[in-house]
Amino acid sequence: MPGAPTCRDRGRRVVVHAPAKTNLHLAVGAPGHDGYHPLVTVFQALSLYEEVTATAAEPGSGVTLTVSGRGVDETPLGASNLAVRAARALAEHLGRPADVVLHVHKTVPVAAGMAGGSADAAAALLACDLLWRGDLAPADRLDVAATLGADVPFALLGGTALGTARGDRLEPVTARGELHWVMAWAREGLSTPAVFTALDDARDAGRAPRRDVLDARVPPALAAALADGDPHALGAALDNDLQDAAVALRPALAGVVGAARGAGALGAVVSGSGPTVAVLADGADHAAELARVLGAAPEVAETRHVHGPVAGARQVVGADVSPDHPSLRGR
Ligand code: C5P
Repeated sequence: MPGAPTCRDRGRRVVVHAPAKTNLHLAVGAPGHDGYHPLVTVFQALSLYEEVTATAAEPGSGVTLTVSGRGVDETPLGASNLAVRAARALAEHLGRPADVVLHVHKTVPVAAGMAGGSADAAAALLACDLLWRGDLAPADRLDVAATLGADVPFALLGGTALGTARGDRLEPVTARGELHWVMAWAREGLSTPAVFTALDDARDAGRAPRRDVLDARVPPALAAALADGDPHALGAALDNDLQDAAVALRPALAGVVGAARGAGALGAVVSGSGPTVAVLADGADHAAELARVLGAAPEVAETRHVHGPVAGARQVVGADVSPDHPSLRGR
């Protein structure tokens, strides 16, 4: 049986990081029968990582989970946790028992529009595949990831990518250079389904334009800005159909976007379904300055300077390192 546990597996552990994301473009169509909305989106992976440690467990012990870091109180610890679901989905795909001890260390805020939960799922999927020696082909890993959530495949892939269907069908996009972002975090998260519903309601009431046809391409101005590595053009090309819906649910977000623009940001847009605002800076010094200004805004709980694009889910410690390896101490 592939990946069957052996004696030498005892105590083996694998550590994987998976990145948060923002959306440079997010066009949303009308919901289908399954309640999901067709999307055309451009993702970018950011240098803020969730970390999952998968440790070999006794046969029959099932999946156990502990969580540390940011937002622990808002993170489910049971079967609904995306890391647990990822381990179980992979075990089923491989036809093996789902015996593993998972530890998730969170740095991405929960319900922030940055796909932190999806990064947990992606990291758990890769960590368990390495731990169990499943040797899943990357395309198969992406397929399993898509069963867990629309943003999970992108957290595996990373970089900059066009997402279509639910956002889970991906195509890498050429992007030159490094972008500096300031992520402005709100005090409280927003529910993704609630933001999609607010957009549907606004469209039904004629308060927002419909998108009956989606153009499944990177918008030409955005594609050119990415290919040229031109942050000024990119700032002007940022857009998000969910922005007004997020602002309707959380009016203070309009103030954050306005403050960022007033402070000279190249662009400012709600990240995914919000409430994080992604603010594009003209280099590292400008990002530090924007972070200082936005950090003083009453609506902003915290700012973080990150860069993108970065790689998708990656192993950070060798799979065969013993648990008392110096790099693992204190984890
Ligand atoms: O796929 P994921 O679980 O991350 O999505 C969370 C929720 O966001 C879905 O249950 C759905 O309400 C909404 N969603 C959507 N259309 C998408 C992606 C997400 O309506 N393409």
